[in-house]
Amino acid sequence: MALTDFIVSFLCVSAVSAKCITDIDNAKIDLEAYIDFKIPDINPRFRLHYHVTPPVGWMNDPNGFSYHDGEFHLFYQFYPYDSVWGPMHWGHVSSPDLVHWNQLPTALLPEKEQCFSGSAVSVGDTMTLMYTAHEVTDVEPFYNESQYLAFSDDGVYFYKYDGNPVLPAAPNGSPDFRDPKVWKYGNEWYVVLGSKTVDKRGRVLLYKSKDLKEWEFLSVLGESQGDMGYMWECPDFFELDGKFVLLMSPQGMQPEGDRYKNTFQNGYIIGSFDYESNEFHPEVEFQEMDYGHDFYAAQTAEHKGKRYVVAWFSMWEVPHPEDVDGWSGAMTIVRELKLIDDRIVMKPLEEMLELRHHTVMHGRLRPQEVTRLPQATELIVDGNIRQRIELFLQGVDGGGKVWVRWDPAAGNVVVDRGAGDIRQVEWSPIGTTTWRIFLDASSLELFCGEGEVVFSSRVYPLGGWKLTNLSRQSLKIEAYHLKRSVPA
Ligand SMILES: *[C@@H]1O[C@H](CO)[C@@H](O)[C@H](O)[C@H]1NC(C)=O
Ligand SMILES: *[C@@H]1O[C@H](CO)[C@@H](O)[C@H](O)[C@H]1NC(C)=O
Repeated sequence: MALTDFIVSFLCVSAVSAKCITDIDNAKIDLEAYIDFKIPDINPRFRLHYHVTPPVGWMNDPNGFSYHDGEFHLFYQFYPYDSVWGPMHWGHVSSPDLVHWNQLPTALLPEKEQCFSGSAVSVGDTMTLMYTAHEVTDVEPFYNESQYLAFSDDGVYFYKYDGNPVLPAAPNGSPDFRDPKVWKYGNEWYVVLGSKTVDKRGRVLLYKSKDLKEWEFLSVLGESQGDMGYMWECPDFFELDGKFVLLMSPQGMQPEGDRYKNTFQNGYIIGSFDYESNEFHPEVEFQEMDYGHDFYAAQTAEHKGKRYVVAWFSMWEVPHPEDVDGWSGAMTIVRELKLIDDRIVMKPLEEMLELRHHTVMHGRLRPQEVTRLPQATELIVDGNIRQRIELFLQGVDGGGKVWVRWDPAAGNVVVDRGAGDIRQVEWSPIGTTTWRIFLDASSLELFCGEGEVVFSSRVYPLGGWKLTNLSRQSLKIEAYHLKRSVPA
């Protein structure tokens, strides 16, 4: 204990009525100083311009995506001290519009527990976080998981509830019991939690509470029958256009042809549900949310009747080329969800139009002609989908490359990072056939048509993007330079 810490704790004992600075407050002050000190060391070459990234260090799942007191809040799994995974903190950003983001101080620091994923709700003026306390133990499997609360009166400074844990263990004693997603229905709070059966099949558990502190187990909302992985993480459950959607991240699904090629999956089951029986009846089988290489742990938030989603724009157990630059991981752009014809469509927000700075291209390229694009660019591509479309994007100075293709014979959209690293899916347009492609310094998000097929993939071009026309047909292309909307 440093001498100043000692004096502070001594003062706390002697001046009970004064607001005490505790050890955890000192740790928070030290952490923010450390972050400020490390930011100048970051190599900016792959830093994203309009996607949330950690200020330094590692980021994974989105957490606590919510609206509170006039602003949107987004937290994230955060390890500040290295650009690889480590004991989990909660980083924190806020936004007036889900497009422009402000960095806030780290919300939760690990103590005896690591602060794993969870969610946030407003209780009057108080913002309440419910998260998983992941503790290391000395018996197999060497960890356990329980649910904790933390509160904030100002939306910036968070303190942990002294009655934790509020949900000590899964009904079957599984050590995997995590990622609470809380919502309110009527006068009661509900939470879904990811877990598994004793014979290692992923499942989602449903509970309810009057005060977020005492919880009653209601039902197993969904469970793998053996073909959907050994663990379901990061569940979310919500009503969308008259149906209920169980969204989750199954671990351990086997690839089937073009499906489920990422390390872990993210997808949803559409069905019906009522708050009397607490039973969810699936009606449409599991579908992936996004067909790209890097999309995981999606979490939604509702505001003014609209349902928004954001996901970790990265993947487990793959190279993260930015980690040598002092950071790793990002969030996708926020998308709005709709349910159309038994599937979720994802659309970029209207507010994204405000990021358009100026037009860098409008018209046509000759075959094989190459054009340079800024690191942050939106492309609008219009072609005749009875014929092949192919665009090749690569770094001006080398690095990552990606082919974006439409193959009318197979009816497939393809995002190909080369060397066989392909994701593809069938696309039958339900409306417009226009593509919107959001390029950032190390990412590509392709929205086909109304958003019925979306790909999110990280790509690492050096020296900005260049676009080569590989299409034989006449395509109309607009390109806009996009403004920065996150801290540099
Ligand atoms: C989890 O493990 C920690 C450390 O051994 C222990 O203090 C805590 O009581 C355990 N919690 C549960 C729910 O088993
Ligand atoms: C690519 O070249 C073809 C053939 O000249 C042309 O018709 C098409 O419009 C070009 N595509 C783009 C993206 O400019």
